[in-house]
Amino acid sequence: MNRKILKAVGEYYTDKVLKHGNTSLGVDWNSKESQYLRFEQLCKVIKTSEPFSILDYGCGYAELINYLASTCPQTTHTYLGYDVSEKMIEEAEKLFGDKKYASFCSVLPVKVMDYIVASGIFNVKLDLAEQEEWLQYILETLGTFDRLSLKGFSFNALTLYSDADKMKDYLYYADPLFLFDYCKKNFSRNVALLHDYELYEFTIIVRK
Ligand SMILES: C[S@@+](CC[C@H](N)C(=O)[O-])C[C@H]1O[C@@H](n2cnc3c(N)ncnc32)[C@H](O)[C@@H]1O
Repeated sequence: MNRKILKAVGEYYTDKVLKHGNTSLGVDWNSKESQYLRFEQLCKVIKTSEPFSILDYGCGYAELINYLASTCPQTTHTYLGYDVSEKMIEEAEKLFGDKKYASFCSVLPVKVMDYIVASGIFNVKLDLAEQEEWLQYILETLGTFDRLSLKGFSFNALTLYSDADKMKDYLYYADPLFLFDYCKKNFSRNVALLHDYELYEFTIIVRK
């Protein structure tokens, strides 16, 4: 994993959480509604009728814990939140440190979980990389998701189909068709592309 990218992205999000605290703005989302709409898409990978373990990759302050508690309260699960920003992990510990089924870390553990979900980790490119280099970074990260997940993974990205006048230089807009094709060819025959939920982004679900 590119250390320069990780360090700069971590600093970007640390600034956000220092400024806005453990709120949707603190993880750079516009609203809690959009944050939850993303969770709704990503969690379609989970079979909630049976117990599961989940790695929340780029967990922020771990709001996904609240989402899972409200949407599948009956299903036993273990939650591992990983974020490159230590400040985010501190916030997650503060909010959810008392939950026995949850743990947090700022260094990626080499541990296989049933599912991996990643919301918002591919968006903020800053001036850290050229387009091609950032794409390689995404593909390398997807390879990690594949290695560390047993039943499936899901992630989102900003879409290349965004309105041109709304696109910003420091963000990365991915080609959903390319990533769908890449996941189909490299990870599983069962891949879904969700691009119908009113945000300038898409979600890919990979079921293994
Ligand atoms: C847009 S925020 C979303 C946080 C959380 N997923 C949510 O939706 O509430 C993205 C988070 O991912 C973290 N992040 C970005 N790239 C990462 C990487 N490669 N490894 C670990 N964490 C990363 C950032 O520090 C930030 O906290």
